[in-house]
Amino acid sequence: MKKSFQKKATSFQGKVVIVTGASSGIGKACARAFFKAGAHVVLAARSTHKLHALEAQLLGTTTMSPTQVPDTTTSVPDSVPPLTTAASNSVPLANAAAQNSVPLANAAAQNSVPLTNAAAPGGTRSVLSIAADVTRESDCKHLIETTLEHFGQLDVLVCNAGLSMRALFKDLDLSVLKELMDVNFWGCVYCTKYALPALLESKGSLVGVTSIAGFKGLPARTGYSASKFALNGFLDTLRTEHLYDGLHVMTFAPGFTSSNVRVAALTANGRPQGKTPRQEEKMMSADRVAYHMLKGIRQRKNQVVLTPLGKVTVWASKFFPRLVTRLEYKIMAQEPDSPLRSHHT
Ligand SMILES: NC(=O)c1ccc[n+]([C@@H]2O[C@H](COP(=O)([O-])OP(=O)(O)OC[C@H]3O[C@@H](n4cnc5c(N)ncnc54)[C@H](OP(=O)(O)O)[C@@H]3O)[C@@H](O)[C@H]2O)c1
Repeated sequence: MKKSFQKKATSFQGKVVIVTGASSGIGKACARAFFKAGAHVVLAARSTHKLHALEAQLLGTTTMSPTQVPDTTTSVPDSVPPLTTAASNSVPLANAAAQNSVPLANAAAQNSVPLTNAAAPGGTRSVLSIAADVTRESDCKHLIETTLEHFGQLDVLVCNAGLSMRALFKDLDLSVLKELMDVNFWGCVYCTKYALPALLESKGSLVGVTSIAGFKGLPARTGYSASKFALNGFLDTLRTEHLYDGLHVMTFAPGFTSSNVRVAALTANGRPQGKTPRQEEKMMSADRVAYHMLKGIRQRKNQVVLTPLGKVTVWASKFFPRLVTRLEYKIMAQEPDSPLRSHHT
């Protein structure tokens, strides 16, 4: 028993792991869990101040359990995503929120130097923070190249950075749907493209954080569901292409998880929702999700689906799709301010 615990605690010893979207929620919890399990962790996101804070926590609190490290990112109203001002990436919603943003020009400038590289006390682990907007191919390329320059290898890429939305398609500014595809789908595709040779060399793991909404369309989340369905297809195909190359591809689908995702979710005009319509405290914790992710990688699972509701939804929608559609409508219409209810008034 003791032996297996020790094995688990060090099972990522010396491995190099990149986590995108490490500044908040699930990504942050995963980064902590990988670090605790002995990995060198590369933290990527746009909010560099949050990456710095996590880095400090990791390097200063290596003996803490993940749950003891405070998570200050959930429900933080200042978490309006720092949107790009770069012309090539800009969309109306980015400009609308520009006054709240840390211009990505800054992030790009800071990109040229790894923000930190500090050895963990008493260990060989280190943490590297790299500013990256995953909607930019050049940022993703830089993220992978800097990691490889620094560590010389890559064992796990976790494509976790994600953005949600809440509005009916009929009311939706199309720029919102494009933004969702850029973050949730293209963000993973770009990182994977540049990381693949190194992952093939290490016979490592590619983890795509998708969602139950990537298996069953979630009303008022067309862009979110479409991007996660696309991600599922991408991961599934890649798995088959590399069936005999030793590459591990894991489709990782959390269910409702307590995080900032609903606060940051975009509304019809591209502005963040700013509050959660659900009871976050009743959801699975991000630390629990991280536990399942590490377990899935250790066991080289093809797919992990979380929460009882998530598992039932994925299973039942294969066999009883019409029933699930009706139930889902009913449940989602009960959310406070549900766009589904206004649809009928
Ligand atoms: N929470 C849930 O209920 C749930 C359920 C199923 C799936 N998921 C998935 O889990 C993943 C993590 O979500 P979460 O719940 O932890 O949400 P969260 O707390 O809002 O975290 C989202 C993370 O993504 C990063 N991000 C957003 N846009 C980015 C961009 N353009 N470039 C780089 N990073 C970006 C954010 O960092 P910056 O803003 O600092 O860039 C943040 O670190 C997402 O893929 C989400 O779809 C969540």
